[in-house]
Amino acid sequence: MSKQFDVIVIGGGPGGYIAAIRAAQLGFNVACIDESKNAKGGPALGGTCTNVGCIPSKALLQSSEHYEHAGKHFADHGIEVKGLSLDLAKMLARKDLVVKQNNDGIQFLFKKNKVTFFHGRGSFVKATGSEQGYEIAVTGAAQESILGKHVIIATGSSARQLPGAPFDEENILSNDGALRIPSVPKRLGLIGSGVIGLEMGSVWRRLGAEVTVLEALPTFLGAVDEQIAKEARKAFDKQGLKIELGVQVGEIKTGKKGVAVAWTDAKGQAHTLEVDKLIVSIGRVPNTSGLDAQAVGLMLDERGAVMVDEQCRTSLPNVWAVGDVVRGPMLAHKAEEEGVAVAERIAGQHGHVNFNTIPWVIYTSPEIAWVGQTEQQLKAAGTKYKAGTFPFMANGRARALGDTTGMVKFLADASTDEILGVHIVGPMASELISEAVVAMEFRASAEDIARICHAHPSLSEATKEAALAVDKRTLNF
Ligand code: FAD
Ligand code: NAI
Repeated sequence: MSKQFDVIVIGGGPGGYIAAIRAAQLGFNVACIDESKNAKGGPALGGTCTNVGCIPSKALLQSSEHYEHAGKHFADHGIEVKGLSLDLAKMLARKDLVVKQNNDGIQFLFKKNKVTFFHGRGSFVKATGSEQGYEIAVTGAAQESILGKHVIIATGSSARQLPGAPFDEENILSNDGALRIPSVPKRLGLIGSGVIGLEMGSVWRRLGAEVTVLEALPTFLGAVDEQIAKEARKAFDKQGLKIELGVQVGEIKTGKKGVAVAWTDAKGQAHTLEVDKLIVSIGRVPNTSGLDAQAVGLMLDERGAVMVDEQCRTSLPNVWAVGDVVRGPMLAHKAEEEGVAVAERIAGQHGHVNFNTIPWVIYTSPEIAWVGQTEQQLKAAGTKYKAGTFPFMANGRARALGDTTGMVKFLADASTDEILGVHIVGPMASELISEAVVAMEFRASAEDIARICHAHPSLSEATKEAALAVDKRTLNF
């Protein structure tokens, strides 16, 4: 007889594993099915984020930044480094260990919360039409059929391929191959100057590759506040990250000497980029092909994403979907918030996700982070706003750190002073943005932040000063 569960979660990434834990905390009998494998074929819980996304990329960003600091910036602090060398194999092994610690951590959390884990692919068999809910087949290391009153789909996303240039992970790399290139390529090409393009381009540039990024759009980081994107671009140019905008990519050929990419620039001139490796980072596609959605008539949109309402309900009763497999930003913390909210809704509670206060971070150097609306969005909507900026150049802690690039920028409603957006480019922007998220969640005004005591010397004083700048009364600039 098939095992019966209250909730079956398909996918063990940030959306799925967090939903499973929260549902278990709420007293449900929960199963989670995930098919990801580690190098030995064992389970690798944590999804894209843990295995080939957030965690390994941040590990390599940290290691490569140390390397760059040791080679280029320690001398400014009076520290001489002689005979600096790179042990890439060790750096990659450290990254793999960080990943494994996270995989193991989630297995531990499942045991602690009594979530039953199935290692394999989960797909719909049928709706039972009774209290038992849905029958889900598990195929892979585990082979069985289980029943769930509720099903949460959290199957995530995969890298989008360029037509005619499939990933071989040897020459043409997705995010997976990009995180395990065995030796630093002399010439590295990237297609797409989005988040992955900039983060992975930064890693390999710091380690010594000559990096060229080809971007289709004419504007750099179009979703980012223009002033912030301009400041970031200046820094990337200075670092030697070559970014070509308004590009049309043509034929891509691989051979013994690497990869040749035919491309046309914004003026229509034809070029060929010859590189040793090519990373294609042009967005991601939802993972729905393994679900057998047709078996139960689950509705997908034209991109193949599971169709959901704002509460993550799908077209089927008691079937929910969260994270990258549904609409909205493809971010781990967005997936987690949706996972928690769905588990709480199943329990009859009022789970809530505020889509207006989801922060974005690009972990380059300088880091770029923002929450809320950009100046161009406010202009387009005809919203009357006041802007205040404060440069890290005038912040004592930034000077002591030796990293004064960038600024904090506040956008507040012209009449109520409510914060509408906060944009940061500079050191530790990823951490600084949290204060803005909290403030916006509580619908604070710029004046509220300006009147809060911030530790001195700290980078967060730049946040306070930017809030003061909204009212044209900065104290240190
Ligand atoms: P996923 O993490 O993709 O997990 C889905 C899981 O379901 C996978 O394990 C998959 O194998 C499994 N699965 C799929 N189909 C089935 C099936 N039928 N049966 C069983 N299992 C199945 N986001 C951030 O917020 N911060 C970052 O710094 C960040 N960095 C990133 C860096 C890179 C290089 C990439 C590629 C992404 C990054 N992201 C980052 C995005 C983040 O990884 C995703 O938004 C997040 O992982 C989505 O979580 P999820 O649970 O929806 O899906
Ligand atoms: P992206 O959407 O960030 O960027 C893709 C870029 O490729 C865009 O600028 C787009 O204009 C360009 N592009 C699309 N087709 C093209 C073509 N044919 N030729 C040239 N350029 C083309 O997608 P990316 O970088 O692949 O990352 C996917 C998602 O993963 C991100 O959107 C984000 O949600 C998530 N992610 C988040 C990170 C973070 O939070 N720090 C880090 C990495 C990824």
